[in-house]
Amino acid sequence: MGAIDLYNGLSLCMVKSSNGFRFSSSLKTKTCDFSRNQRKLNCMASISATVEEGRQQLTGDSFIRHHLRELSPYQSILPFEVLSTRLGRKPEEIVKLDANENPYGPPPEVFEALGAMKFPYIYPDPESRRLRAALAEDSGLESEYILVGCGADELIDLIMRCVLDPGDSIVDCPPTFTMYEFDAAVNCARVIKVPRKTDFSLDVEKIAEAVEHQKPKIIFLTSPNNPDGSVISDDVLLKILDLPILVVLDEAYIEFSGLDSKMRWVKQHDNLIVLRTFSKRAGLAGLRVGYGAFPLSIIEYLWRAKQPYNVSVAAELSACAALQNPTYLEKVKVALVEERERLYALLKQVPFLNPYPSHSNFILCEVTAGRDAKNLKEDLAKMGVMIRHYSNKELKGYVRVSVGKPDQTDALMDCLTRLS
Ligand SMILES: Cc1ncc(COP(=O)(O)O)c(C=O)c1O
Repeated sequence: MGAIDLYNGLSLCMVKSSNGFRFSSSLKTKTCDFSRNQRKLNCMASISATVEEGRQQLTGDSFIRHHLRELSPYQSILPFEVLSTRLGRKPEEIVKLDANENPYGPPPEVFEALGAMKFPYIYPDPESRRLRAALAEDSGLESEYILVGCGADELIDLIMRCVLDPGDSIVDCPPTFTMYEFDAAVNCARVIKVPRKTDFSLDVEKIAEAVEHQKPKIIFLTSPNNPDGSVISDDVLLKILDLPILVVLDEAYIEFSGLDSKMRWVKQHDNLIVLRTFSKRAGLAGLRVGYGAFPLSIIEYLWRAKQPYNVSVAAELSACAALQNPTYLEKVKVALVEERERLYALLKQVPFLNPYPSHSNFILCEVTAGRDAKNLKEDLAKMGVMIRHYSNKELKGYVRVSVGKPDQTDALMDCLTRLS
C-alpha cells in the first residue's frame, strides 16, 4: 500500500483490492483543523474529485513500463495438450511439424536420470558446474567460456539486458528467428532491420552501412537460419566480425548442417558470442537448456546479471545424461538429416509448393499456384498435421515444415495429396 500526501495531513492511499488497485482517502483530524462545516464540505468534495480522478487514471497498466504497453505478445505455438483438445485427437495422433522439435526425444539415459533424481528439493548449482564440464568436453572449449541458460532464449534476453541501454539498437536480418526482435522490444531497444536478399543470404554491405551510420550495439546472426535453413559462410562471418559491433551467432541448429560450431572462435574474437541449445540436438525442448560461448571479457558480466538458479536440477541432470550417449545423438541427427532430404524431394513434387534446400531440421516452402498459405496450414491442422505459417510481411505466402520421423512425412504427404 502506498500513500500520497495531498496536503497537510490529508492522505490519499492506494489500496490493493481483489479487482486491482483503488484509492481511498483518510482525514487525519489531528493535523487538519476544520473549524467550519462549509470548509470541511468543500475539502471533502475536492478529495472525492481527486479520488475519482485517481480511480480513472490509475488502472493496473499505468504501473507497466511505457514501452511495454505497446508490446505485442510473442506468437508461440499451442501447448500439446491444448492442441489435442482443440483438434479432438490424442497427442500421439497429432503430426507435430510446427516447432522444429526433435521427434525422437532424448536418449534413455535422460529418463533414467530423471527417475533417479535425488535432490529436487535443493536449489540447483548456480554455476551448472557438471554440465559446463561436460559441455567443455563436448565442444573442445574450456568451461570458463561457457554459460548455461534456461534455453538459448534466456541467453538472448540476458545478453540484451547486459549490453543495451534504453534507446540502443540491434541489427536484425529478417526473415529470421523472431525472438531477437521481441526481446529487443522488451528491453526498450530499437531494431534496425537489414533484410536478407531474395536467396536468404545476408546483405553484408547494407549491414556495414547500418553499423557505420546508426551505431547499433548487437547484430543477431543465425546459422542455419530459421526459417529457411541457409548457413553463413566463414568469409561473411569474418567480414561482420570486423565491424565494431557485438555479433551473436545463434547456432541452435548447427548439428544438422554438417558444419563445425564456431564456439571456439570466441577465444580469438572479443566481439563474438555463440549460442547453442539442447532443444534440437538432444530432444530436450521441454526441459529448457541452452548454452553459450562467450569471450572472457563479456562472460563475467553475464554471471553477475543472470538469475542464480536459472537452470533447474532436472534440466542440468537431463542435459548431462544426454551428453553421456553421443552415439544416440549422432544416430538421431543422421536420421533427421536423411529424412530432410527425402522430405525435400517429396515436397518438390507437390504442385503448389516450392521448397528451399535446408541445412537444418525444417524446410521452408513458398506456397504457389494461387493457394493461400494460411488456408493450407488450417486445412492440414484439421487433418491432424501441424505446420508453421507466417503472417509477417517477409514471409507472407510461405509455410515451414519441421522434419519428423518417416511415418510423419508419409502422413503429411498423404494429406497434401488429398488437398491437391
Ligand atoms: C534460431 C533459434 N534460436 C534459439 C531457439 C530457442 O532455443 P531454446 O529452446 O534453447 O530456447 C530457437 C527455437 O526454435 C531457434 O529457432
